[in-house]
Amino acid sequence: MEKINAVITGVGGYVPEYILNNEELSRMVDTTDEWIMTRIGIKERRILKEEGLGTSYMARKAVKQLLQKTNTDPQEVDCLIVTTSTPDYHFPSTASIVVGRLGMQNAYAFDMQAACCGFLYAMEVASGLIQSGRYKKVVVCGADKMSSMVDYTDRATCPIFGDGAGAVLLEPTTEEYGWMDSHLRTDGHGLPFLHMKAGGSVCPPSHFTVANRMHYVHQEGRTVFKFAVTNMSDSCALIADRNGLNKENIAWVLPHQANLRIIDAVANRLEVPMEKVMLNIQRYGNTSAGTLPLALWDYESQLNKGDNLILTAFGAGFTWGAAYLKWGY
Ligand code: UT7
Repeated sequence: MEKINAVITGVGGYVPEYILNNEELSRMVDTTDEWIMTRIGIKERRILKEEGLGTSYMARKAVKQLLQKTNTDPQEVDCLIVTTSTPDYHFPSTASIVVGRLGMQNAYAFDMQAACCGFLYAMEVASGLIQSGRYKKVVVCGADKMSSMVDYTDRATCPIFGDGAGAVLLEPTTEEYGWMDSHLRTDGHGLPFLHMKAGGSVCPPSHFTVANRMHYVHQEGRTVFKFAVTNMSDSCALIADRNGLNKENIAWVLPHQANLRIIDAVANRLEVPMEKVMLNIQRYGNTSAGTLPLALWDYESQLNKGDNLILTAFGAGFTWGAAYLKWGY
């Protein structure tokens, strides 16, 4: 039997209209545009402000655009994976809400949670589904409404995050394009450094947890920074070595957009110039599971069939990894 690869055949995206820029943030907490630009590299981020709208709203917009762009009937989709840390509800899944709203009646749908690494993990699972031969059209959507769990009185975290969603369609091909290789890891050591203290089964919501502001992102930035640089760089180097990729034949590096200094360090390790690095951190900040598909969405018009891309991400857990993607259109 011929080998089947899973290739991306389209990209959709959505970011909310409201722009929270550094000037406005500087009026909310003790910070400056200069500090945020030099330490993180973010100028502005999008915020989903409308009451009653959650992650499924952005995921639905991104997936709807994807289906329109690729002329895909919602009923043709076999599976939808939404990867998010900010689901609409604990249950049911955000993916189930999206398939319901978009009329994807023949799809089964589920959420995957791997924090900021969610898109890489979900792509690996989706690629396996396609390679099994049982699924022809699988949609992967990375979506997060980070503003729903950011403490806008904490200057150490509130400049970092934004809201947004991106989605890709994966289909089978027997040609050498698509999701070619990956190196994904989870070590569990990251819990104290990056988590939300309450709201889960260990510490359910109570007056105490609300009064003590325990429903927000807690991050020890410096520790996360160090692990992110080392692990993303190592994973990228491994993927590059294993696939004969180097500064000459890598068309693009697509890193998780958490901190420009982390991105710079990873690109340096690969010896790839910043012109070949996809960047939108300045405009959207860290949209967690949304960063990688949103960057593909932004750069889609600059991509060519056969381009070699290295994707890499790092997130809570810790979760991290890198993947080799050969662009198919
Ligand atoms: O996406 C998931 C993975 N997450 C990441 O990859 C994030 C990784 N970490 C980071 O990106 C960085 O560690 C941060 C952006 C979170 C923080 O940058 P940093 O350079 O590591 O700053 P720091 O936490 O070491 O703080 C340095 C100083 C401190 O002041 P002192 O103690 O030196 O007087 C902070 O209080 O900067 C201060 N500071 C700020 N000053 C102005 C922290 N936040 C701010 C702020 N404005 N917003």
